Amino acid sequence: MDTTRSPRRRRVLAAAAALAAAAGAVTVASAAEAATTLGASAAEHGRYFGTAVAAYKLSDSTYSGILDREFNSVTPENEMKWDATEPTQGSFSYGSADQIVARAKANGAKVRGHALAWHSQQPGWAQNLSGTALRNAMVNHVTQVATHYKGQIDSWDVVNEAFADGGSGGRRDSNLQRTGNDWIEVAFRAARAADPAAKLCYNDYNTDGQNAKSNGVYAMVQDFKARGVPIDCVGFQSHFNANSPLPADYQANLQRFADLGVDVQITELDIEGSGTAQANSYASAVRACLAVTRCNGITVWGIRDSDSWRASGTPLLFDGSGNKKPAYTAALDALNGGSTPPSTPPPSTSTPPPPTGSGCTATIALNQWTGGFVATVKVTAGASRLAGWTAGLTLSSGSSVTNSWNAQSSGSSGAVSFSNVAYNGSVNAGASTEFGFQGTGTGPSSATCTAR
Ligand code: G3I
Repeated sequence: MDTTRSPRRRRVLAAAAALAAAAGAVTVASAAEAATTLGASAAEHGRYFGTAVAAYKLSDSTYSGILDREFNSVTPENEMKWDATEPTQGSFSYGSADQIVARAKANGAKVRGHALAWHSQQPGWAQNLSGTALRNAMVNHVTQVATHYKGQIDSWDVVNEAFADGGSGGRRDSNLQRTGNDWIEVAFRAARAADPAAKLCYNDYNTDGQNAKSNGVYAMVQDFKARGVPIDCVGFQSHFNANSPLPADYQANLQRFADLGVDVQITELDIEGSGTAQANSYASAVRACLAVTRCNGITVWGIRDSDSWRASGTPLLFDGSGNKKPAYTAALDALNGGSTPPSTPPPSTSTPPPPTGSGCTATIALNQWTGGFVATVKVTAGASRLAGWTAGLTLSSGSSVTNSWNAQSSGSSGAVSFSNVAYNGSVNAGASTEFGFQGTGTGPSSATCTAR
């Protein structure tokens, strides 16, 4: 499965490095040395490239051929969930999950365990429990399953999706949450006791950029680290589409969690779309992981588009026939340090000169893809301090704003304006502040600025 680890390939790489050193050259991976599979290339960076696997598909030779060739980590897509592993209370069923683990072991692939405690996919008997009975059942489940796989799991998603969507930054209501706020740390302690060698992760979606939900998770991880609750990693599911694109601050968000002293992992990556736009997003996700030292690896949520939980969005790296898509090539190129050129220029980082007058200017860095965009707007004060500001712009017909941050928006199509919020109205002379918004259709290229 992972050809880079073969002695022969290591000798070839070592010889190439020695030749380069002898010639006084900086050792960089040349095209000739580039690994030819996702897992092999990720391994050269000390990382894994994995996929979700369904046990019942292992008999499909196209599916298992790609699996064995490309991936050096697997996550059972459904087979380790509570409903699958404990369909009747106290009676455990590991057949399908064991099949996936055995194949991974035979191929030298890691296993991500998914998921010990989750409000969803609970067996009926657990859905009907509450209070102490549910708490005890949950602890027993975590203990039994983690013990069964002791020593065979690289990372466990101990708790999955426990935070609420929206702006609260708080916990999701669920039968588990109603057993008491400490249910998450209790699950982590039980998992640690059962399998001390496995990395223990908290895993969630819509936490891929900085927002209220990821801030809530961040605060929990910070608190766990401060109090010695055993947590080793945070999983970022990374299910992206036009309404929820790969955020501009993806890498920065991974990094801020890593800075808390945990590993980070991209755990369920899929990106709806096609062609160059999809390819560019995959390359960006790969580069973000490579740029964060504590990012252990990337797992895509399925192999072929037809294997996906949202197959109509064609979100994966292989088409329904098992052919490599442009997204595959872009992901591999990014792993190999190559340059799949982005179809849209990266956001401008040059700072415009401050305006000479007493007003302000607004400049836009646009991340545009087919059907949607994210605009980051920099407001720069002129010769006088701003007490407030309003940026105005006009969206093309059929385009609209879906959400914004660090500004109060007025209007969502046609002429739209954005005014400062309480904390960013005051901008010193020559200084700048930024706000952003996301939309469907085509993003604007220019904006006006009015000082208030
Ligand atoms: O196994 C039965 C089969 O016997 C039956 O004929 C068929 C009819 O619908 O259903 C099959 O089970 C389905 C199972 O997938 C296997 O295909 C379940 O109904 C269906 O609910 C289940 O969906 C899974 C979903 O989680 C459940 O929440 C998806 O495969 C799986 O990709 C998805 O994965 C989740 C992660 O665990 C957590 N993060 C989000 C991610 C995507 O939703």
